Amino acid sequence: MSAKPFIKWVGGKSQLLSQLEPYFPEKFGTYFEPFLGGGAVFYHLQPKKAVLNDINETLVQTYLYIKNEPSKLIKQLDALQKKYISTSTEERENFYYDIRSKYNKLPLSDSKRVIYFLFLNRTAFNGIHRENSKGEFNVPAGRYKNPRIVDPENLKAVSEMLQNVEILNSDFVSAVKKAKKGDFVYFDPPYHPLNDAPSFTSYHKNSFGKEEQAKLRDTFVELDKKGVYVMMSNSYTPFIKELYSDYRQLPVQASRMINARASGRGKINEIVVLNY
Ligand SMILES: C[S@@+](CC[C@H](N)C(=O)[O-])C[C@H]1O[C@@H](n2cnc3c(N)ncnc32)[C@H](O)[C@@H]1O
Repeated sequence: MSAKPFIKWVGGKSQLLSQLEPYFPEKFGTYFEPFLGGGAVFYHLQPKKAVLNDINETLVQTYLYIKNEPSKLIKQLDALQKKYISTSTEERENFYYDIRSKYNKLPLSDSKRVIYFLFLNRTAFNGIHRENSKGEFNVPAGRYKNPRIVDPENLKAVSEMLQNVEILNSDFVSAVKKAKKGDFVYFDPPYHPLNDAPSFTSYHKNSFGKEEQAKLRDTFVELDKKGVYVMMSNSYTPFIKELYSDYRQLPVQASRMINARASGRGKINEIVVLNY
């Protein structure tokens, strides 16, 4: 069985894979995904060697837990799922907020956070992960009749795929330090906003502004000079087009539900930038 993302993550690439597919390099050495999120592209490519990275501590802790102790994780999550499902509809909201507050109080290193993190991802409103400036998860409860909190088969398949993979928890710049000629780096950063309306950019307490986008472009150029295949997804905006004016740019149609304003919903143009 092939593995698929085990979390719902804003910006997930599952729906865009068919459009991205023609542009992946045919052959490459090590695969680098420095803004991992749900990891849809990683599962799709099934690379033999890979370095995965995300700045979100709990997300990375979750990948490591699945990699190292899949059975233990499945057992704990299954127990939580049973408790939730047997709770009456009226009581489920309390149950959710109780877990959310426990999650936010636990120290980052506590492995219980991983279980709560996965639970919250399946039961939160819209199934999204959002943090406030203090790093607290703050999404309200969702209303699902029968949420699939644990998918043992998939978690085992994910664990299998992660065995030969290096998983890092750092900034994107250091995550690609070891990339060399013939390797492939796919950047899927938090997108530059389409307009000035408040938009979803907070996967993490540190936000990703224009300076970060410029730093990413510099990293892109450095990798290009080394002979690495580099691909980046971003929003189709004048700022991004200008930053990458020296490179091949392809428009991509995507439907997104992340903007609170009705005008921001529906088909939005994204861009893919390539150095090859
Ligand atoms: C657009 S999402 C990736 C979506 C992913 N490709 C998928 O299919 O789900 C961007 C990710 O970058 C991470 N991130 C934000 N700032 C970062 C940084 N400076 N370095 C590394 N990762 C960062 C966020 O935690 C988030 O998971």
